[in-house]
Amino acid sequence: MVNVHTFARRKEENCKISMVTCYDFWSARLINQSKLDCILVGDSLAVVMHGFDSTVHATIEMMEMHVAAVVRGAPDKFIIADMPFLSCSKGISRGLDAVQTLMQAGASAVKIEGSAHQVDLIKRIVEAGIPVMGHIGLMPQSVHNLGGHRVQGKEEIGAKKLMDDANQLEQAGCFGIVLECIPNKLGDCISKSVSVPTIGIGAGPHTDGQVLVLHDMLGVDPDFSPKFLRKYANSSELITHALNSFHDDVRSKSFPALTETYG
Ligand code: KIV
Repeated sequence: MVNVHTFARRKEENCKISMVTCYDFWSARLINQSKLDCILVGDSLAVVMHGFDSTVHATIEMMEMHVAAVVRGAPDKFIIADMPFLSCSKGISRGLDAVQTLMQAGASAVKIEGSAHQVDLIKRIVEAGIPVMGHIGLMPQSVHNLGGHRVQGKEEIGAKKLMDDANQLEQAGCFGIVLECIPNKLGDCISKSVSVPTIGIGAGPHTDGQVLVLHDMLGVDPDFSPKFLRKYANSSELITHALNSFHDDVRSKSFPALTETYG
């Protein structure tokens, strides 16, 4: 099983890390049987599972429930849980309470969006013996401040800030850093400048690993096709076809057949 030490080794060996999001028991069971390295119970569950328009709506109670379901389904995987909106901004003590909730739900590590302003909390969590993954670039919890879902660090000043942020997160003790929606070259520079692995989403091919939202890579929403996304299945078509076939079979009375009854 992957652990924090594996993360560090993978970077040294230039062996890329694969990660997907997961929010529920049955997907977790499938991932548990797969070769994937690790799972992120992302706060994107507010959008994907609950239909909200942003991750701002994820609460610690939602995260706790989904983490526990994923842990039950994927006992063999390293599971990283997102600290939800504002859970890191109400003081160290409340931040540690949120970490406690996620770890007691069964997470192996927590992920925190943000940089300099989170450094004190990150240090305290790491001191408490809990692995922390950082997350910079496009930070969906700050989407209103960033002016929408845009590529970050395109200008020199923004790029320099992201380089500094990554270094601060490494100094604070993060075992890895998610880089979201930044130019390829910057993904490369940051990955080379920190000793911990970077996991990219829309950050180009040079990061030390890649993460995708499970439902996006499975093609659940035919209308969601950002440039960075590769779809590995057309689940929307597959599931709609299955549902319609069931409906047709019920209407035509071909389901259930005698072999599908208790006689
Ligand atoms: O919540 C999430 O799904 C994430 C990934 C996009 C990295 O943070």
